[in-house]
Order: sequence, then C-alpha cells, then structure tokens
Amino acid sequence: MKIGIIGVGKLATAIVGGLIKTNKADEIVLSPRNKTNSQLLSRRYKHVRVAKDNQAVADECDWVFLTLPPSVATHEIQKLTFSKETSVISCIATLPHTECQKLIGDTVPVYKAFPLPSISHCDGPLAYYPCDAMIKPFLAGMGELFPCKDENAFRPLAAITSLIASHYAVQNTLQNWLVKNDIEPKVARNYLNDLTSSVTHLARQTEVDFNELIQSASTSQGLNEQAMKMLSEQGICRDIEATLDSIISRL
Ligand SMILES: NC(=O)c1ccc[n+]([C@@H]2O[C@H](COP(=O)([O-])OP(=O)(O)OC[C@H]3O[C@@H](n4cnc5c(N)ncnc54)[C@H](OP(=O)(O)O)[C@@H]3O)[C@@H](O)[C@H]2O)c1
Repeated sequence: MKIGIIGVGKLATAIVGGLIKTNKADEIVLSPRNKTNSQLLSRRYKHVRVAKDNQAVADECDWVFLTLPPSVATHEIQKLTFSKETSVISCIATLPHTECQKLIGDTVPVYKAFPLPSISHCDGPLAYYPCDAMIKPFLAGMGELFPCKDENAFRPLAAITSLIASHYAVQNTLQNWLVKNDIEPKVARNYLNDLTSSVTHLARQTEVDFNELIQSASTSQGLNEQAMKMLSEQGICRDIEATLDSIISRL
C-alpha cells in the first residue's frame, strides 16, 4: 500500500512516525513542501520518498493524508485531482468534511480525522468520520480510535484538543512555581509528569465520573478542597467552557 501526505509539517511528521511504527505502508510519499521536513524524513526512513509536487502524491497513492495549513487548504485542494481508487483523509481542522468532499468530488472516498502529535507513538485519541469498512482497518493501531457518526459528533472531540497547548502551559506554570520554591527543574518535571499520569491512570481504572473523582480527592477543609474552591470562584471552569464554545464555532 502507498500512503501519501500533502503538507509536510509537524502533524505530517508525527503521522509518518505512526505509519512507520505500524508498518502499514510499502511506501510513504511526501509532498516536497516543506523541503527541510520532507527531505529529513526521506533520509531517516528508507520507505519514505519525496514526490515532485502535490499532484504526484495524489496520483501515486492509495491513501492520502491532507495536512495543509488552513490558510492555503481550499486553494490547494481544488487544484488537485484524485482517482476514485484513492481515499483521502483530511486532517485540516477548520475545513468541514462536506466542503472538502465537494472540492475533491463525490466519487472519491473522503474522511475527516483528527490525529494528534502523539500519533507518532501510535498513542492518543483518534477521532474520525464517516465510518465505513475501509477507514477503521486503515487507522487501526495508530491510536485509540473514536469513530464518529457525523460532523456534529466529531466537532466537540476536535475542539477539546485545542486545550493541549494550554495543558502544557499549566504544567509550565507549575514547574516554574516548583523551581521558584527551590526544586530542581528536572525533579519538578518528573514529579509533574508522574502526578499527571497517576491521576489519569486512576480515572481510567474506574467507572466513576470526574465529579466523583473531585469529591474523592477532596478532604473536608483540606488542601484540594481549598484550591478547587479558590479556582472555581475565579471562574476557571466557566472560562474554559467559554473558550471551547468559541473554538467549536471555528470547526
Ligand atoms: N499540529 C497538530 O497537532 C494538528 C492536529 C490536528 C489537525 N491539524 C491540522 O493539520 C494541518 C497541519 O498542521 P501542522 O501543525 O502540521 O502545521 P505546519 O507544521 O505548519 O505544517 C503544514 C505544512 O504544510 C506546508 N505547506 C504550506 N503550503 C503548502 C502547499 N501549497 N503545498 C504543500 N504543502 C504546503 C508547510 O510548508 P512551509 O513550512 O514551507 O510553509 C508546512 O510544512 C492543519 O490544517 C491543522 O489544522 C494539526
């Protein structure tokens, strides 16, 4: 199977890592842009090759990931032609599936997916739609699959991922605070990573909902209860909801 990627930046680099790990492709064909990234990947992996242009990727491959920047996506996609034997997976966050399908044409299978950088380790949630007999086996192994029945089921899952950078910003704030309190940066980082994975691990082990986990983490008049109360009074949860409402309107 030949798998192509058009738009070789951060996400495409992560997808190549996942494809290599799962051994899915006989060959991975990349668009030439970005030149540094595509050449680096083709030097790193023997199954990766750089095509002469975007159309050559579309012509040669059985599956094509579109990972173009939103600013140029519509313009670039409408210049391309795909045969009906090629399946296209658009990862362009702000381009709705219906619009992408229209640009590519009705005869070509077009999917929308939302891989994350963790796909390079075949890890993390991977939401996609529409769901049919072809896409599931193709994506299997590249992460935890979240098939969505339609665009309305897909958009909220995609919107949530906009908080990844903010999550790291919180971790960064916590690390800086620990360092200010004389904890070595490396110890601070390890401690925070351990704390984050242990609370996630605990949540995964149980069926109880997050609200119950808040209660079980909070001793009456204890530290968690105080911190939660102070942050809630400052409207942190309300602000996060408002941010997500704004993000989803772009998807
Ligand atoms: N990053 C994520 O975690 C993530 C998650 C889900 C979805 N997405 C979506 O994936 C897409 C890519 O995101 P990204 O973070 O990987 O961005 P990125 O790092 O900027 O990658 C986009 C790549 O496309 C290249 N490009 C620009 N114009 C092109 C053209 N006309 N033809 C071919 N390639 C072209 C860029 O090359 P130059 O550097 O030369 O401009 C760049 O290397 C976006 O639509 C985003 O919404 C990203």
